[in-house]
Amino acid sequence: MEVVERVQAITSLSLAIDDILPEFVGSEHEQPGVTTYRGPAPEIPVIDLRDDDEGRAARAIADATREWGIFRLVNHAVPVGVVRELQRVGAEFFELPQEAKERYAGGAGEPRGLRDEAAEGFGGEEGVGGLPVPQNIWPPQRVDHRMWPKNPADDRKANEEYVKHLVGLVDKMLRSLSKGLGLEEPALRDAVGGGDLEFLLKINYYSPCRRPDLALGVVAHTDMSAITTLVPNHVPGLQVFKDGHWFDAKHVPDAIIVHIGDQIEILSDGEYKGVLHRTTVNKEKARMSWPVFCSPPGETVVGPLPQLVSDDAPAKYKTKKYKDYAYCKLNKIPQ
Ligand code: SIN
Ligand code: FE2
Repeated sequence: MEVVERVQAITSLSLAIDDILPEFVGSEHEQPGVTTYRGPAPEIPVIDLRDDDEGRAARAIADATREWGIFRLVNHAVPVGVVRELQRVGAEFFELPQEAKERYAGGAGEPRGLRDEAAEGFGGEEGVGGLPVPQNIWPPQRVDHRMWPKNPADDRKANEEYVKHLVGLVDKMLRSLSKGLGLEEPALRDAVGGGDLEFLLKINYYSPCRRPDLALGVVAHTDMSAITTLVPNHVPGLQVFKDGHWFDAKHVPDAIIVHIGDQIEILSDGEYKGVLHRTTVNKEKARMSWPVFCSPPGETVVGPLPQLVSDDAPAKYKTKKYKDYAYCKLNKIPQ
C-alpha cells in the first residue's frame, strides 16, 4: 500500500477505536498538547517588501533572521494567482487515483511520489504525512522533466511560473542578509553557489488526525538548506521554537514563509540562526504545504565567511562540502 493510503487507513482505524496508534504518539517532551506555549505568543515577523524605504525591508529581514530565523513576506511580488495555481496542481496530484500517483513514487533521485521520510513524523516510515520526493525546479540545467508528473496537465507550467518569481525573491533575501552582516551584497549569494543555487520543490500532505494533541506531522528540525520558502494551505500547523517555547505560527493569508536554514547559520558563523520548527496536525482537515529548499550544489564548500572570522574571533562552525553536510545530517552523524 502506498503511503497516503496507508496513512488514510491508519487514520480511519484510529477513528474507529477513538484513539491513535501508539507509533504516532510522541514522547511527552514532544507531544504538542503538552509542549505548545499557551500564553500570548510573540508574532513571527511579517515583512512588507513593498516598504523599501531606505532599505527598511532589508534591515527587517536581517533582524528577523538574527532573532527568529523565520519570517513571513507580504507584498512579495509573486502573484497570488501563481501561488494558487501551484497549490491547485499539487492538491490535484494528491487526489489522483493511487495507481496514477504510484508511477511517480520512488527513492531519492526518482520522480515525485509519495515516499515517506524516516526522519519525519512520529510514525517514522509511516509518518502522519505522505511526503513526496522533492523535485528540482531550478536552475534549468538541473531540471529533469521526465521526473515531473504529466497529470495534472498544468503541473509543469505552474511549477515553472512559481520558481521564475521565487529566484528573484531569494536573491533579494540573500542580498539583504549579506548587507546585514556588513558585507558586499553578493557575498552570501556567491557563497551558496551563485546562479547554481538549487531549488527543490516538495509537497507535504498531512492527513487529519484524531489526536492532534499527541501526534506531530513533522518532528522538530532545522532545514539543511540555505533558505527554504514555503506556502501552506489555509490549515495552520507550523510551530516555531523560540526562547525555550513552541509557538504556533498564525496563518497570514498569501504570505510566503521563509525559513533560514543551516547553511546561512554556518556562513554567518552563528550570527544568523536556522529556525527550529515542527508541524502539528488537524483533527478534521488535511494540511498541505509547498516548501522550496534552496541549497548549494553538493560540491560547494560551505564554512564561515572569511570576512567574519579572525585570529581573535576564530570560526565556530566547520567548513565542509554541502553534500558531506547533507550526508551527516540525513544519517544523524554529528557534524
Ligand atoms: C517542514 O518543515 O518540513 C514542513 C513545514 C510545514 O509544513 O509548514
Ligand atoms: Fe523544515
